[in-house]
Amino acid sequence: MNGLIPQAFIDELIARTDVIEIIGSRISLKKAGREYKAVCPFHDEKTPSFTVSPHKGFYHCFGCGAHGTAIAFLMNYENLGFVDAVEALAEIHGLEIPTTKNERNSSQSAVLYDLLSEADQLYRAALRKNSVAVDYLKNRGIDGETAGRFGIGYAPDAWDTALKGLGGNDRRNKDLIEAGLVIRNEQGRQYDRFRDRIMFPIRDPRGRIIGFGGRLLNNGEPKYLNSPETPVFHKGRALYGLYEARHIGQKNSQPDAKNASAPVLVVEGYLDVASLTQHGISPAVATLGTATTPAHIRQLTRLTDSIIFCFDGDRAGKAAAWKAMEAVLPHAGDKVDLKFLLLPEGEDPDSLLRSRGTNYFLDLIDQATPLSDFLLGELSNRIDLSSTDGRSRLATLTKPLFNRLPTGVYRELLLTQLAEQVGLSKERLEGLLIEEPQTASRLERIPQTHASQNSPAVSDVEQRSPLIRKAIELILHHPEAGMALDNIPALTKVNQPGSALLRQLLDVVTKNTGITTAGLLERFRNDPEGQYLGRLVTVQPLDDGEAVPQVLKDSLERIVENYQKERLGALLAKGSLLEHQERMELEELLRKKPNKH
Ligand code: UTP
Ligand code: MN
Repeated sequence: MNGLIPQAFIDELIARTDVIEIIGSRISLKKAGREYKAVCPFHDEKTPSFTVSPHKGFYHCFGCGAHGTAIAFLMNYENLGFVDAVEALAEIHGLEIPTTKNERNSSQSAVLYDLLSEADQLYRAALRKNSVAVDYLKNRGIDGETAGRFGIGYAPDAWDTALKGLGGNDRRNKDLIEAGLVIRNEQGRQYDRFRDRIMFPIRDPRGRIIGFGGRLLNNGEPKYLNSPETPVFHKGRALYGLYEARHIGQKNSQPDAKNASAPVLVVEGYLDVASLTQHGISPAVATLGTATTPAHIRQLTRLTDSIIFCFDGDRAGKAAAWKAMEAVLPHAGDKVDLKFLLLPEGEDPDSLLRSRGTNYFLDLIDQATPLSDFLLGELSNRIDLSSTDGRSRLATLTKPLFNRLPTGVYRELLLTQLAEQVGLSKERLEGLLIEEPQTASRLERIPQTHASQNSPAVSDVEQRSPLIRKAIELILHHPEAGMALDNIPALTKVNQPGSALLRQLLDVVTKNTGITTAGLLERFRNDPEGQYLGRLVTVQPLDDGEAVPQVLKDSLERIVENYQKERLGALLAKGSLLEHQERMELEELLRKKPNKH
């Protein structure tokens, strides 16, 4: 995938990105000297060992070894693929990604999109022919216009609708399986996944069908069935109804406009989305039987500055709301208006609209609870401060939430409110929630990361000559010094552990003016050496500033010199056993020697 996006673009993106802004808007960072500290979001810890260096554009956790650039952070924290993370950053900077499409992958995806779209036609046609299914929708209050807008269809009560209608040869059947429409059991029998179900096509933000949700027409289990994860369908990212709300014409939504006045409702069910839309209450989107993920939130915050999470007031709904709250906390503040609406137990938007009508529901929306109140309310529900362990529970429950809040006014206000609520001073509460970073000189040594333990580069690390390691370190921390370097041709001959990596780095910095430390690391993302570089970058270099270019130049020359000395010794020792090539090398080395000393 990495090959899709030109490396030069990634260099530029990394150079423009403020890693503190990216990370600090998602977790709370505390300034500590030249760096920032936080409780690591990637493992469970009490003392902050997560460090972000604004100058290096890099984060590193001394506890679990997680490290990387802003791109890596987005990938890990928001569970994004590389391309999505790059897209997210590009969007922040208003840059267009110049892609050179990966032929095979995109053509296979194109096959799946086509197949899913054909299936959609098949299911829609089947709905028109089946009066029982049409009656079912009517009984549920879905009119023809809404059914059409969402492309609702019907998968007949048969084992081979898609298989027969769309399959045929082995190739097509294989594609049907990959698209999630057909299942192949252990005996090798192939059959349709969706049978006797009302079908809801799920679209991506570009309108392409990526999967389906199917509701059983009759009672039975499971009531809803979704497409499995496929190369084009990822439940953790898909939002049902998003495309329809933005692009399929209707009264109160402006396509492609950030419509500040209309909040996006996040609900649980397909029919809730359809029903809300039909009642003119939109945009509404649903997650697909999964918890709200940071990836969901990220898509929504791009489109709207107001989100209302609307769930059933039962236990499952409350749990879903809590999950959604965790996912939105990094976005809390004044940029997005976030609210929660827990409906009376056992009700969902669809059932309420049908029993109580549109205005009743609009009133509920008006009374939705702001995130801060919801958070404080949930906390006080869960903590009994009159009990002896109330205080420790307070810390355990609150810590992971507050540590996800971006540093800023909003966070301070919430802390003040919570402190008041639990009867502690704000300082005391903060003390409970955030422990001070240990300031031991951990930066002095290269930490061993678990991530790198199975990397082939590791065994090589200690073998690298201190000189080569030092040169690598200097280039990594001061790419600009490498750029200014005169070519040292003899370096190409050096053959020692680490010399190839050193040359690679030099090559990159000389050919890419302006590349940063983080940009360099991104270049080695898929390289085993990337792990090594990642650890090296956390070591504070002893040389700083103006001296660096000279120190680097001297190091490189000494590397060459040492190598030549070593070779000379080895060749001389071989005496008359020298091969032709070696004799030539020896002669050359001897020719050089007098100038040097
Ligand atoms: P609900 O069980 O609340 O059903 O599931 P609903 O949406 O109210 O459905 P109706 O009104 O009975 O038709 C909410 C959502 O959870 C997912 C689906 O996405 C559904 O829309 N779900 C539910 C499943 O994925 N599988 C199930 O078996 C049930
Ligand atoms: Mn329902």
